[in-house]
Amino acid sequence: MKTFAVLASGNGSNLQAIMDAIKKKKIKANLKLVLSDKADAFALERAKKAKIATIYINPKDFSDREAYDRKVIEYLKESKVDFIVLAGYMRLLSAHFIKQYPNRIMNIHPALLPSFKGIHGIRDAFEYGVKVTGVTVHFVSEEMDAGAIIIQETVKVTQKDTLKTLTKKIHKVEHKVYPQAIDWFSRQRLKISGRKVLLR
Ligand code: GRF
Repeated sequence: MKTFAVLASGNGSNLQAIMDAIKKKKIKANLKLVLSDKADAFALERAKKAKIATIYINPKDFSDREAYDRKVIEYLKESKVDFIVLAGYMRLLSAHFIKQYPNRIMNIHPALLPSFKGIHGIRDAFEYGVKVTGVTVHFVSEEMDAGAIIIQETVKVTQKDTLKTLTKKIHKVEHKVYPQAIDWFSRQRLKISGRKVLLR
């Protein structure tokens, strides 16, 4: 069975959905480690409650991004994880990190890439006035929010929606598609062909 780590900086609702899916055997993979760059990330609490190993690494202890990432990689290698899932991890990964795990790092973005990249995907789409937005699960490449797309699912924006209601709808879809993508990857059902990800 494939093993993986989740990197998270915040609330960890996606982490929770992933852990719940593992419990329900909807993901056939073993979550070995949850790592955070924020000491008070609620994601760490969620992991502890589920008896998953946690590590907090303080970015202030490192001179630059790559030095930080080298420490993260040390832990990942020690835990022998096969792949990495970013779930609200608020740090850009260094090229060095990405090269260590080519096509083995996934991210979830709360908009339909390549639209509304960056950290405010939901808000930016809402303020732009789009009628349809959504969720993207993709592999991580060196360019931010630009790796090959695994799953996209749309979410309609109605006239009644506020940023709050839209955010809720987006998260609900995230919690469905991320476990799905992780399960496909764990079962080696994803084949990458250039920018295209094929499901076998
Ligand atoms: C999600 O909206 C995800 O798309 C984005 O960060 C948010 C993380 O939320 N990358 P949570 O910490 O999983 O609740």
